[in-house]
Amino acid sequence: MTEILVRLATVDDTAGLASLLRSIGWFGRISEEPPEKTVEKVTAALALALAGDSHAIWVAEGADGRVLAYAAAHWLPYLFLPGPEGYLSELFVREEARGQGVGSRLLEAVKAEAKRRGCSRLQLVNFRQRESYQRGFYAKAGWEERPDGASFVLYL
Ligand SMILES: CC(C)(COP(=O)(O)OP(=O)(O)OC[C@H]1O[C@@H](n2cnc3c(N)ncnc32)[C@H](O)[C@@H]1OP(=O)(O)O)[C@@H](O)C(=O)NCCC(=O)NCCS
Repeated sequence: MTEILVRLATVDDTAGLASLLRSIGWFGRISEEPPEKTVEKVTAALALALAGDSHAIWVAEGADGRVLAYAAAHWLPYLFLPGPEGYLSELFVREEARGQGVGSRLLEAVKAEAKRRGCSRLQLVNFRQRESYQRGFYAKAGWEERPDGASFVLYL
């Protein structure tokens, strides 16, 4: 594997993150909008994420400085847990960089930070039709699927 640096994102990663997101091709709205619009939205989201201590975004950077992947996590105080919950909301690796340990490195970074913060657990949603689910990406990393839980969403 080529040399990969995993580090926290900064505003300088805006263009790299927007380009990565557009390359994933899963999101109709993003594919249809002009690239400047994606940059604008990533700029706004990054500003929110970097403003406080409740969010963290990591990037995996290739030897040439290109953003190859990112992960976003959010730290949620829970009254009934002994420590906060970390919610992993996004983890994307550029197609050409998959299967080389980059996603696993990011997952480890999230886990290490969650432990450092005294989190009780990490949580995420992984759709069963995704390759990541079918290849057991999270299960291999020790995550447990909770068969008794239903995932709800209210679109606004
Ligand atoms: C799923 C994903 C994050 C895994 O990151 P990765 O860098 O490709 O994975 P790693 O190289 O660290 O490999 C770890 C495991 O991931 C799985 N994996 C490897 N390549 C994969 C691929 N192209 N797609 C899905 N899962 C893959 C395998 O189970 C692998 O374990 P193995 O080596 O024992 O077979 C990445 O492939 C990706 O971004 N896929 C598209 C977006 C996505 O599914 N995001 C997560 C759910 S929202």
